[in-house]
Amino acid sequence: MQPLNATAAATLAARTNLLEMRGIHKHFPGVHALKGVDFDLMPGEVHALVGENGAGKSTLMLILAGVYQPDAGTLTFDQQPNLVIHNERHAQSLGIAIVYQERSLFAQMSVAENIFAGRQPLNRVGNINYGMLYGESRRLLAGLDLDIDPRKPLIELSFAQQQMVEVAKALSLNARMLILDEPTGSLTNIETESLFRVIRRLQTQGVGIIYISHRLEEIFQIADRVSVLKDGEMQGTKPTAQTNPQELVRLMVGREMLYDAKPRAVPADAPAALRVVGLSDSAKLPAGQIRLQDIDLTVRAGEILAVAGLEGSGRNELALAIFGARPFERGEIWVDGVRRHITLPQQAIAAGIGYLPPDRKEASLFLEMSISNNIGSARLGSFGEWWWSERKRDTTAEMFRQKLHIAAPSVARLVQTLSGGNQQKVVISKWLLVNPRVLIVNEPTRGIDVSVKAEVHKLLRELADAGTAVMVISSELPEVLAVGDRIAVMRAGRITGELPRAEATEEKIMTLASFDIQN
Ligand SMILES: Nc1ncnc2c1ncn2[C@@H]1O[C@H](COP(=O)(O)OP(=O)(O)OP(=O)(O)O)[C@@H](O)[C@H]1O
Ligand SMILES: [Mg+2]
Repeated sequence: MQPLNATAAATLAARTNLLEMRGIHKHFPGVHALKGVDFDLMPGEVHALVGENGAGKSTLMLILAGVYQPDAGTLTFDQQPNLVIHNERHAQSLGIAIVYQERSLFAQMSVAENIFAGRQPLNRVGNINYGMLYGESRRLLAGLDLDIDPRKPLIELSFAQQQMVEVAKALSLNARMLILDEPTGSLTNIETESLFRVIRRLQTQGVGIIYISHRLEEIFQIADRVSVLKDGEMQGTKPTAQTNPQELVRLMVGREMLYDAKPRAVPADAPAALRVVGLSDSAKLPAGQIRLQDIDLTVRAGEILAVAGLEGSGRNELALAIFGARPFERGEIWVDGVRRHITLPQQAIAAGIGYLPPDRKEASLFLEMSISNNIGSARLGSFGEWWWSERKRDTTAEMFRQKLHIAAPSVARLVQTLSGGNQQKVVISKWLLVNPRVLIVNEPTRGIDVSVKAEVHKLLRELADAGTAVMVISSELPEVLAVGDRIAVMRAGRITGELPRAEATEEKIMTLASFDIQN
């Protein structure tokens, strides 16, 4: 028999599915999370999976990762029919790698130890071979265009860098199939580009990739096919070339999107609810840390100021400084015309400043408590009676559950059983309930599906209309343009420009965010 040439072999391989899931069911107490789902993946294919929060995307992936067992249905992977994936280690040995939606790394361990957690290369006498550990890690990180010292403790990395370490960890397994469950949630455009380069490289090596994202524009950039899940049911699979965002949204939410948050110009004489004057860090800040310099900004009552900037621009540091969670050397913070001394978050809260951090786990969610208790916990400090009024707490929580479409049968549900996006909605409810004078929200819709995103933007608008000054920090330019009445752009610890909404475009923002004007 003639040996197949490379192209013929590739064609043949492409015709055989790498993965076939048939009739997959999964129940959780009170939730039928997957209702007979079919899903295929070919070698070298990027197959996107989209759907609203709670649609069942992560659950389907956790079955492939060996975390959950399906209640019914069959699975074929790499020509092995009726496969049972017993646990995560088994999945790894089959060549299945996953970047989880929630981070799974150890903050105190080094980058390299995280990448090779539990699988560190050993030398002949059984000790960890650090030379090899660091060398391999450096190679993997370089492959992702990352200049990170693998000996650094993970905790010293930015959120986005940590996310890329997750990717490096998955790649270290030499996988046949790579699952990315919202990998770009915290990545900037530049980092997303390098992730896409890696994905394309893996594709040419025949690795099959399942890609979950709420950012539909990414799907059209990277995916060959896209499947839509809704309420645990597969709505259909299409080549991306034969569909469009509107159709996907319709399949995801089952209706047209109605709301469009309209930014508007707030009168220049509206009183400033928040004023930051000359906020600066010490020049002696250790190298590698972002130094805030001469930050002046105003957010008027009733206004939404969007702050754009790349990772490392200082947008997070600025939010933390205003919230009293990061010391600064010089500068003033004024709330409603009164200068406030803020060096601790408690002082910021007392001054009427609220802050919603980008990471749910840091956002003081009590995972083992109910939705109702979590939402109610925001008021504990300020209202003594709140704790006792369980009924009032439950009705308020119920109001948020309905308004934000928190996918849970009741507010008595534990937060840990919610999907990622639904947990985020609980965090948002908490702050909406506190109703501060100034609310700083950092990546408010990370991991939130399109319909709820619009819902959150509408809520932020309502909050502003009620007189709150809202500052929205976001790495998503469409979001910045959708909610900001005014847009401030940061780069290298400075504000490089401010644009009224009417004049702002993605190009102008990117220019202010990317280029070194002074130096
Ligand atoms: N461990 C669990 N216990 C109980 N219910 C769960 C558990 N994990 C998921 N669920 C429920 O199963 C459903 C599907 O959740 P899943 O996390 O798969 O959604 P998702 O599509 O990944 O959503 P998101 O976009 O928000 O990440 C949701 O209703 C969720 O509340
Ligand atoms: Mg999920």
